[in-house]
Amino acid sequence: MYSKIVGTGSYLPEKILTNADLEKLVDTNDEWIRSRTGIERRHVVADNETTCDLAEHAARRAMSAAGINADEVDLIIIGTTTPDQLFPNVGCLLQQRLGIGGPPAIQIEAACSSFIYALSIADKFIRLGDAKCALVIGAECLTRLIDWSDRSTCVLFGDGAGAVILKPSAQPGIISTHLHADGKYSDLLYYPTGPSKKFNPTVACQTAIQMKGSEVFKVAVTKLGGIVDETLAANNLDKSAIDWLVPHQANMRIIQAIAKKLELPMERVIVTVHNQGNTSAASVPLALDTGVRDGRIKPGSLILLEAFGGGFTWGSALIRL
Ligand code: UT7
Repeated sequence: MYSKIVGTGSYLPEKILTNADLEKLVDTNDEWIRSRTGIERRHVVADNETTCDLAEHAARRAMSAAGINADEVDLIIIGTTTPDQLFPNVGCLLQQRLGIGGPPAIQIEAACSSFIYALSIADKFIRLGDAKCALVIGAECLTRLIDWSDRSTCVLFGDGAGAVILKPSAQPGIISTHLHADGKYSDLLYYPTGPSKKFNPTVACQTAIQMKGSEVFKVAVTKLGGIVDETLAANNLDKSAIDWLVPHQANMRIIQAIAKKLELPMERVIVTVHNQGNTSAASVPLALDTGVRDGRIKPGSLILLEAFGGGFTWGSALIRL
């Protein structure tokens, strides 16, 4: 028994923030942002929108693509770093919207790797026979965690959501997943506060993402390169077998480095970072849905998904659509 993706969906909030808009906020410029990151614009949630709103749109589109009704879903796993509230988790809030009660609703937080983690867990539920129709989501309002006066982070992130429906299959859909984390890097990329931490007035910047960008960059390229090798070796595959790379969309230069390692031309890589920035947990399912809906990714394609994020966490999934 395997699991297989039978429908994808995604959603981006309406409001667009261009590099030119950011030039008015901080000491930056379009040329720097494009050449260092590949980003040209990003979508930003409206004041009254939340992660659950974005997740709901993406979930409904994935269910429609899969041709299923909400009451068929018997497992919800949502990856997010930006839940609407501490509890109930976003999966429970989403159940209310979708009018389904009863199935487990799980929220995973592994920063930008959250969707790959969620997909890996949902795959195991299905292969063990514990679920027959899983709704797996990556949804994020990361712009809510930004200090809009910090040019080193505010130009990078965007908001959005992506979702897939997983069902049992006799043929491998999710072929293998590979998850890692190493907490020794926790001071390179983090959000400083949480509910169990007492507010400390002597610490500056407690309410915005903190990142040592160039150090994160180096570890990301190394770990993602390693997980590509690990995924190919686990499946006894040569890199030439991969049809499509659907990478985490943090930085065009990281994406190009992994494509080069796989000897894949950029025409075989789904790139959305220029339009969306880094949408964290949403970036991989958003890119997957983009490639599926515009017809580039065809049924039967062998696809490598990968992500890297705060923690550090990183992971991959080898899938056949
Ligand atoms: O998704 C989770 C994982 N996250 C990532 O993978 C992000 C990984 N890191 C990166 O993508 C890149 O490191 C960044 C895009 C964040 C930064 O690019 P970089 O080439 O590593 O630049 P840098 O941090 O080394 O900064 C170079 C210069 C600095 O100025 P000085 O010290 O050389 O004078 C920065 O102050 O660029 C300056 N700088 C900016 N200049 C204009 C930093 N941010 C900006 C900005 N506009 N927005």
